[in-house]
Amino acid sequence: MSLQLNRTTFGDPANKGNVLSKTEAEQLFHEWVLNPRLQLHMRQVGRLMRAWAAEQEGLGESDQWRWELAGLLHDADWDQWPEQHCRKIIEELETRHVDPAIIRAIASHGPLHFGVEPETRMDKMLYAFDELSGFIHAYSLMRPNGYEAMDLKGVKKRLKDKAFAANVSREDIADACSRAELSLDELISFIISRQEG
Ligand SMILES: [Fe+2]
Ligand SMILES: [Fe+2]
Repeated sequence: MSLQLNRTTFGDPANKGNVLSKTEAEQLFHEWVLNPRLQLHMRQVGRLMRAWAAEQEGLGESDQWRWELAGLLHDADWDQWPEQHCRKIIEELETRHVDPAIIRAIASHGPLHFGVEPETRMDKMLYAFDELSGFIHAYSLMRPNGYEAMDLKGVKKRLKDKAFAANVSREDIADACSRAELSLDELISFIISRQEG
C-alpha cells in the first residue's frame, strides 16, 4: 500500500490565515476519529505543537492555534480510512479553505511515507513530535506511575531496546531531530515536561 501523495503544493495561498474554529475542529475530530487511543495521540501532539509555538517560537494566540490544529488533525483519517492517510484530511481541509501552511504541515508529517519534505518550522516540529510523542506515551503505559517522574535516561534506554514499541521507527525519530536541528535530548525533555496521559 502506497501512501505517497505525489504532490508538492497544498491548499490555496489565498486562504492564508484561515483556520477552523475550535468547535469546527472538535466536530470533525469526533466524526472522523472513533478510537480513543488515536484521539489521545492526536490531542497530545496538538498540545505539544501549541506549547512549542508559544514557548520556543514566541508566537501569539492565533499562530498557536494554527500549530495546534495541525497537530490535532494530522491523523484524522487514519482511524476509518487508513489506506487514504493523509490524503483524505488534506482534501477535506482544502475544501474548507484552510490555511495552506496547516495543510502542508499535515502532508509532510511522514516524509518517508507521503513523499513530502518538511520545510517550515511547523512542518518540522509536527514530524518531530509525532513518533516521539507516541513512543513516550507507550513508555508511560508500562511505568507504574505513568508520566510521573519520567526522566530522559529512562526514555533513551527504551529507545535503544529495539523490542520495545517495535512499531515506532527509530529511524524516523533520528531523521526528524536532525531536520528540526534539535538534539534527541532536547526534544525528549520538552515532551516529558509537557505531555500528560
Ligand atoms: Fe500519521
Ligand atoms: Fe501521528
